[in-house]
Amino acid sequence: MANGALLFQSIGYPLELWTPHLSRLRPDLDIRTEENPGRADQIHYCIAWKPKPGSLAALPALKVVFSMGAGVDAIVADATYPRHVPLSRVVDPTLSQSMTEYVVMSVLYWHRRMHDLQSLQRLRKWRQIASPRAENVRVGILGFGALGQAAATALQALNYRLSGWSQTPKQAQGVTTFHGREGLEPFLNQADILVCLLPLTPGTRGILDARLFASLPPGACVINAARGGHLVEDDLIRALDSGHLRGATLDVFATEPLPETNPLWVHPKVVVTPHSAAATDPAAFMAHVARTIARVDQGLPPENLVDFARGY
Ligand code: NAP
Ligand code: GLV
Repeated sequence: MANGALLFQSIGYPLELWTPHLSRLRPDLDIRTEENPGRADQIHYCIAWKPKPGSLAALPALKVVFSMGAGVDAIVADATYPRHVPLSRVVDPTLSQSMTEYVVMSVLYWHRRMHDLQSLQRLRKWRQIASPRAENVRVGILGFGALGQAAATALQALNYRLSGWSQTPKQAQGVTTFHGREGLEPFLNQADILVCLLPLTPGTRGILDARLFASLPPGACVINAARGGHLVEDDLIRALDSGHLRGATLDVFATEPLPETNPLWVHPKVVVTPHSAAATDPAAFMAHVARTIARVDQGLPPENLVDFARGY
């Protein structure tokens, strides 16, 4: 029996998608909403996505905060976040599977020239376009963590030549790994298709800029499924218009929803998807929440903790 309440805060999704899963697992739990939060000092657990700055600091009895996603940038950006309260994020096979599907789909799309084939179809032109064999296509994964490694495994099965870039050294069979700032340039120089799966932190904000694009081989393609804050949109447009980059698939944007006036919507070399690469699965997420509450109530640390010093 949990002895504190759980609050859903600024989750941005209809509550009825989420609460039934938790109520089924923990019928004893007192679930509160922003409209009806009750006494702040009774709230021990909070589920948040983009909480209003200061709102978590106003909960004095918090034992753990759950990010509704893998990314925690919107939560750790709040300077008033009470750092003694552990923050748990989503690391789950269902999320990895969804992201892997998105990455594989997008890599195949650019490798197999689907963009060009679709343009030809619109013109009713019957023209074959050759693609290199997968083993000659170098896919570089910027951010070789939970999602990056899962995507790499699936791409390896399709014979792509894989490399990964991370903050700390990594070893993965069949993947050429690079790390740190000094590893970035050699990593980029050999990435025909670049996939960004980095967390958004002060160290990665704006990383997809003109300098980075210039380090990619001519004709490279870029897939950003991480955060819009990684990308300098004008630099991408210039690199595409100059012909240095062949195309880009973008799932995330500095401003979401992407404003109707944003040129990326209609850019002839850009595929736009509405931050839908990998959505958190409500049942899996609530199982994680229920498991973690049980651990915390037994005095054990929560799973999938965010390191505030790193910011992810
Ligand atoms: P993760 O497991 O924490 O992996 C992050 C990777 O990035 C790690 O390999 C880390 O290096 C590396 N990294 C972080 N900062 C770095 C830096 N400054 N320089 C070099 N490498 C750096 O995160 P994840 O679960 O894979 O998720 C990644 C991101 O995907 C999330 O933060 C979120 O923003 C995004 N996401 C998007 C969607 C969507 O629908 N579009 C869905 C889910 C997640 P180390 O391994 O050395 O720490
Ligand atoms: C989605 O964007 C996530 O971070 O899980």
